[in-house]
Amino acid sequence: MLKETDIQKKNRLDFSTGWSYDPAPESRDHITIKEQYGHFINGKFTKPIEGNYFPTISPSTEEEISQIAVGSAADVDAAVKSARKAYSKTWSKMSGRDRGRYLFRIARMIQERAREFAVIESMDGGKPIRESRDVDIPLAAAHFFYYAGWADKLEYAFPGRKPKPIGVAGQIIPWNFPLLMAAWKLAPALATGNTVVLKPAETTSLTCLKLAEIIQEADLPPGVVNFVTGAGDTGAAIVNHEDIDKIAFTGSTAVGKIIQKAIAGTGKKLTLELGGKAPNIIFEDAAVDQAVEGIINGIFFNQGHVCCAGSRLFVQESIADEVRDKLIDRIATLRVGDPLDKNTDVGAINSKEQLDTINRYLEIGLNEGADIFQSSCELPEKGYWCCPTLVANVSQSHRIVQEEVFGPVLTIQTFRTPEEVLEKANNTPYGLSGGVWTDKGSKIFNMTSGIKAGVLWANTFNKFDPTSPFGGYKESGLGREGGLHGLTPYLNI
Ligand code: NAI
Ligand code: MG
Repeated sequence: MLKETDIQKKNRLDFSTGWSYDPAPESRDHITIKEQYGHFINGKFTKPIEGNYFPTISPSTEEEISQIAVGSAADVDAAVKSARKAYSKTWSKMSGRDRGRYLFRIARMIQERAREFAVIESMDGGKPIRESRDVDIPLAAAHFFYYAGWADKLEYAFPGRKPKPIGVAGQIIPWNFPLLMAAWKLAPALATGNTVVLKPAETTSLTCLKLAEIIQEADLPPGVVNFVTGAGDTGAAIVNHEDIDKIAFTGSTAVGKIIQKAIAGTGKKLTLELGGKAPNIIFEDAAVDQAVEGIINGIFFNQGHVCCAGSRLFVQESIADEVRDKLIDRIATLRVGDPLDKNTDVGAINSKEQLDTINRYLEIGLNEGADIFQSSCELPEKGYWCCPTLVANVSQSHRIVQEEVFGPVLTIQTFRTPEEVLEKANNTPYGLSGGVWTDKGSKIFNMTSGIKAGVLWANTFNKFDPTSPFGGYKESGLGREGGLHGLTPYLNI
């Protein structure tokens, strides 16, 4: 079994500035977390019918933070019944204007409690506070604001049609952007008049349960939003419940395929947002320093726990050495550690399982003959950590180049011509996102129309906005979320 330190011993990227940052931890004083959480059904926190709980831990300290209810098929059934009742009695009958008011209220309340949400997100999931504070929580509020605006304008969104809600939506979300994924799924469903049963990921249920408190305070009619917690079995119970009209899933391609099979022929609607292996392409005419910063942000952002992460770097041969040297310098300065520290760049890996997956891929890479470099970051004793990692001397056929690692691991390849890099960029089963760095508008145009991916960035990376649609081709998924496009999966038009 490969240890991270083995790589460090062999290829350690040392960098000393002669100075260091003092710790700057965000305080935990202003947050409240209960010792135990039930499901949120019909507007109330309810005990799980079978009485089982599991711990949620902080991946940076391995401390138990709270106990979370295990959702059984009976709990899911209770949640679906409550959602169905709320759908037929209140929510689908309410005017768009009134639905919008509730969504605006939720958005404002998220903003008011942003600090509390950011701290809990970083504790429960391991991401740096800088990111939960500046990305996750503000974007979650922005999604509610954005879709609140559509609630009373659906007839304008689809001129000449009479858009109608679908019914009860079952939504299953992953652990990489817990509150943001919840907002991403809830806001369009609610704006269009559907009710929801949502399951957060088992390692990161807390911000969803805190959102339940906001939903209560916002006085949303009971049953419009229900949260059932638990792992894969609970998710499967949602997928297979016969009174659910639509499934929205974000997570692994493997589970996405299981869900697609499970609902085939049932008439349930489906959107899937799955994995990715995004190319990030840098041409010799790019602003190199800016590109290096974008590449770093594209893969080390959120420990690489990002489906659209720029995990495959392609550098034009003439600048390959320069880019590699700059990347090495920059990686050596990234601070890895306490997610609650405001200076932290790279936080904890979300779970022991995910760390094992990443290490397994590094071992595969070594066995395939790749050169693997890791920064010399000092890691805390407890918790799950992976130093920023560069993987060089690889080709298209390497598994570490083809498969989703979902960690802070960047493969580097070179290219000579635009045609060559397009072929390489498209040579994966995925097609979620991609990036291009160049000074030439025409190159941007040619590359972005040639890369088979749903989301493309030029001279930037990992920028999100509620107004723009997001989704993939091939094994990266089905359907679009975000923007006007994100309304359609929740409407009969
Ligand atoms: P996963 O796909 O198992 O989990 C995602 C969600 O699906 C969780 O809420 C989970 O409880 C639920 N789930 C699991 N099995 C289910 C089933 N049979 N029916 C319904 N729901 C089910 O992902 P996991 O195991 O946490 O991560 C494995 C890999 O998946 C990662 O290494 C990464 O490559 C990829 N992944 C991709 C994400 C993305 O944003 N596209 C997010 C999370 C993981
Ligand atoms: Mg946790």
